[in-house]
Amino acid sequence: MILMDDQEIYGIIGEEGFTRLVAAFYAQIPHDEILGPMYPARDLAGAEQRLRDFLVVRFGGPPRYLEQRGHPRLRMRHAPFAIDQSARDRWAAMMERALEQAAFPAEVDAVLREFLLNTATFLMNRAPQS
Ligand code: HEM
Repeated sequence: MILMDDQEIYGIIGEEGFTRLVAAFYAQIPHDEILGPMYPARDLAGAEQRLRDFLVVRFGGPPRYLEQRGHPRLRMRHAPFAIDQSARDRWAAMMERALEQAAFPAEVDAVLREFLLNTATFLMNRAPQS
């Protein structure tokens, strides 16, 4: 399959698509014993908005994230959270479930899936617990 250009994705799934994906992801967070405690319980809506706005600009939509948060610096911003292999795998599994629920066209799904899972690997910052 030929992967489409990242920047075309916002034009296809729009604001609504990203909102749906990220909502499906965050709906799982409070119930999760690994990730639940990491996220700010009182500002889950804010966290949801930050991830959505980041994905929107990354995939060709308006630059709200950059205006409000500046350069993403994702590795630096994740440094306070202990992301070992199991946290990464849990995040990835939840995002894959969210992608299934969102049911985007296959080419869109493939591009988003590759980016999200690779970035999750890149954000690991702790050795596995021994
Ligand atoms: C690998 C597992 C991951 C864990 C455990 C994790 C955890 C977290 C936590 C606890 C926050 C703080 C929530 C908030 O208040 O905003 C956060 C923020 C954020 N995460 Fe992750 N994350 C992971 C992977 C990713 C991936 C793969 C991406 C991008 C594709 C991402 C993008 C973001 C963004 C954009 C923010 C908001 C940064 C800001 O502007 O402050 N995260 N993450």
